[in-house]
Amino acid sequence: MSQKNDDFTFNRFANLDFYRVINSRLLDIAEIRDQKRIVDLGCGTGAVTRLILDRIEAAKQSCIYAIDHSSAAIKEAMANIGDRKEAAVSFIQGDVSNLQDKVKEKVDAIIYCNSIHYVPDKTALLKQINSILRPGGILAFNSSFFEGSHPPESLEFYRKWMMRSIRILKKEYGLRPIKSEKVQSRQHLTADEYKELVESQGFRVKLQEIMKVQVPLEGWTHISTFSDFIEGTMPGVPLEEASAALQEGVRQTYENMGIDHVNRNWMSMVATRS
Ligand SMILES: C[S@@+](CC[C@H](N)C(=O)[O-])C[C@H]1O[C@@H](n2cnc3c(N)ncnc32)[C@H](O)[C@@H]1O
Repeated sequence: MSQKNDDFTFNRFANLDFYRVINSRLLDIAEIRDQKRIVDLGCGTGAVTRLILDRIEAAKQSCIYAIDHSSAAIKEAMANIGDRKEAAVSFIQGDVSNLQDKVKEKVDAIIYCNSIHYVPDKTALLKQINSILRPGGILAFNSSFFEGSHPPESLEFYRKWMMRSIRILKKEYGLRPIKSEKVQSRQHLTADEYKELVESQGFRVKLQEIMKVQVPLEGWTHISTFSDFIEGTMPGVPLEEASAALQEGVRQTYENMGIDHVNRNWMSMVATRS
């Protein structure tokens, strides 16, 4: 990953209060407190790792494996967690598709925040998770990208935001998105499909919930500084210019629509391995 991309990690978004509340809720319903071996899958810049550290009781005997395929994210996670010495945190740069090679012991819990929608083959992913989770161990994940995550009343916002941003990009920078470079769009499962899939792979779903979250303006301006989001919405455009256009576009859209939040549905699921 280039030095340039290092400036466009998930860090700013991950530290927003509303996002912290959503992930804290997941850790609460998953009852994360006395597990000894925990994986923070797709750990990003370590915001969830920190929440896990805040919760675990026998921290001295605990180990957290924080795994992400982005070297920039892992570097930032290490810097963010560096001064937390109460539990061993093992940072691993790696892909979720080969967990068995990365984690050599059985773990008690796997936490997977806002990342599962990235994975095209979710059956293969669950097999990997199964192979490193002890029987009775916990799998907890959440996502704001599933079929049903965008309530109908929010659709006008996205349409206006993207139109404005593209206009700004053209006017201010003489640039436009290149459609042929669009990242392959991901197939989004419904909440029911997630449940069926998880159960078909030998898990028992303990709890599944959908929260309606009010995303403030900062949610959108901060997500506009994250490379994965920028590349998905403004394919082929240099990150800096695309980010600036998206941020200005959303500011204008909030002002023009006279709104102070946009609703988004967040799905959480907690399951145990049979
Ligand atoms: C939206 S961020 C969430 C980060 C973190 N879980 C949080 O909530 O703060 C998604 C993360 O998943 C990582 N990711 C995406 N696909 C991955 C894969 N195949 N293997 C490992 N990490 C992946 C990205 O690099 C990114 O850091």
